[in-house]
Amino acid sequence: MINNNTKQQILETVRIEEVVGDFVSLKKRGANLLGNCPFHNERTPSFTVSPVKGFYKCFGCGKAGDSITFVMEHEHFTFPEALRYLAKKYSIPIEEEAPTAEFIEQQTQRENLFTVTAFAEKFYQDYLWENEEGKAIGLSYFRERGFTDDVIRRFNLGFAPDKWDGLVTAAEAAGHQQELLEKTGLIIVQENKKYDRFRGRVIFPIHNLTGRVVAFGARILKTDPKSPKYLNSPETEIYYKSKNLYGIAQARKSIAAFDSCYLVEGYTDVVSMHQAGIENVVASSGTALTIEQIRLIGRYTRNISVLYDGDPAGIKASLRGIDLILEEGMNVRVVLFPDGEDPDSYAKRVSTEELKVFLKEQAVDFITFKTKLLLSDASGDPIKKAALIRDIVETIAKVPDAITRSTYIKHTSDLMEMSETVLIGELNKIFTSTR
Ligand code: CTP
Ligand code: MN
Repeated sequence: MINNNTKQQILETVRIEEVVGDFVSLKKRGANLLGNCPFHNERTPSFTVSPVKGFYKCFGCGKAGDSITFVMEHEHFTFPEALRYLAKKYSIPIEEEAPTAEFIEQQTQRENLFTVTAFAEKFYQDYLWENEEGKAIGLSYFRERGFTDDVIRRFNLGFAPDKWDGLVTAAEAAGHQQELLEKTGLIIVQENKKYDRFRGRVIFPIHNLTGRVVAFGARILKTDPKSPKYLNSPETEIYYKSKNLYGIAQARKSIAAFDSCYLVEGYTDVVSMHQAGIENVVASSGTALTIEQIRLIGRYTRNISVLYDGDPAGIKASLRGIDLILEEGMNVRVVLFPDGEDPDSYAKRVSTEELKVFLKEQAVDFITFKTKLLLSDASGDPIKKAALIRDIVETIAKVPDAITRSTYIKHTSDLMEMSETVLIGELNKIFTSTR
């Protein structure tokens, strides 16, 4: 239990604008700061922070409070968790009182699961750096891929021993219960037999916004057509796939600072971009983008650049997900990588400077990108072209802002050599039929 002296010190040290600023991008407005409310979906900022009063208030949804209630609400922390988080942020040493029976009882299931995932993260990491097998197989794999030791540590990458009970034996020896190990998905229990889910694979821990480990991705080292390249943790009480983005904990400061976010597909893309000095990057981890993931990014910036590897089938499959970003009123750009390259391989091949120039020069707004992509398919076929126009106009209709919509209409009309009137006519049809 945290004693009163420490509580007092925390309350005197914290600065609301810094606490909120870790999660919301804030702009100065007179004596206050203003941003998009993280507690409800909005496009015009109504969330104000008063550094003088140490308070926040949203004029849209009415949520208000101080630094402690902010992290409690935002991170779903209990009161003691919020205090510990703030103490850590401000390097305030925590003086403990002996935990009461009540406190021990209050230890939630979630906390227990976090204890297990943290243990496993360290286990895999130690195995990579200290065990002979880990070094010879896991560490040399990462190094051969060109990852520096620094970036391997920054992402807490690890190695799972190539045996059935590496983790489960170590975890039980350290006092972790089988039931919790099973609930985190780290071990599988079947007919009284238990075994590790991840074996002989390199490990990518997946963190939540505050940097706590919630799940793991595990990559196979050899090509084996019988096993999937990646195995991932199942969904658990602390891991909801659709609400998580790989790398968000490491990226969020940089996303807010640059007011933009790169969205990639894979774990290795995130790690390589960091290594190249580009830290405002997160991965959807190969699944279709969800609205929750988009809103997670939306807490820090309204600008997303989607980085695609040049596989046309993959690109077409993900166009829907990008419509979702537009619907949220965010700006989407697209960068297409040369055929056969993903951000990871490209970042390894060129210098950081070249990569930055490439990202800047290749970025096109999404609607232009989609129009050109579909146009190249429809070449000269009037029926296809009519379908394409409807498709593009449907996408434009998702944009909430009328001025932005009309800019897109104008631009698309040039690209398609199609009069604006026709496009506007289509747009109005969509509006009258669906709204
Ligand atoms: N993925 C997955 N399960 C698979 C294949 C892929 O979960 N069987 C997810 C992973 O998050 C992976 C992402 O989809 O990072 C992108 O897949 P892919 O491009 O195939 O892998 P890379 O990240 O490029 O990995 P590598 O460079 O090591 O091949
Ligand atoms: Mn790759």
